Amino acid sequence: MDFQPQVNEELLDQAIALHGLSLVSILHQVQDHYGYLPEVVLRALCRKSGIPLTEIYGVATFYSYFSLKPRGRHQITVCSGTSCHVRGSGRVIKEVCNLLQIQIGQVTPDGEFSIETVNCLGCCAFAPVMVVNGQYHVHLSPAKAREIIISIREDAARESDLQTQEAEQEREAVPLQKDVSLR
Ligand code: FES
Repeated sequence: MDFQPQVNEELLDQAIALHGLSLVSILHQVQDHYGYLPEVVLRALCRKSGIPLTEIYGVATFYSYFSLKPRGRHQITVCSGTSCHVRGSGRVIKEVCNLLQIQIGQVTPDGEFSIETVNCLGCCAFAPVMVVNGQYHVHLSPAKAREIIISIREDAARESDLQTQEAEQEREAVPLQKDVSLR
């Protein structure tokens, strides 16, 4: 079995109490917490709620929003449906996978990106199409897809630098405040 996180019993109890037997709402809460739907948690949900495991998996696999595998902080979905395929989505997928050094269904080692494909994103006239973090990118070429991913990666690095600077400034500010209060 893959790595499985610890079951947050309290979260499950709260979700069941709040949503009753509304499985979709419970699964939303579970996925918001874990970032995906871990098998061990779904089994615990079955035990606690009495909802059959087959029904839980039925719902979890029906909606593309739910994922049974961990996802990166930035989720990339590339359409590989007929219209997108004819207009070169295969080359887009190859470019993104090469850039991130992962395969479809995998997460980068730093947990930042994951990539998946779907059969249609419902906007075939704009093929090839890719969705990143819920934002649609249309009429893609491999170069354009590469630019988008690099730009997201640079933004994430800037954000992380900023957070580190803020944390350092906070650490430096604490002794200063103590000095002032001692006078
Ligand atoms: S086939 Fe790609 S959006 Fe429909």
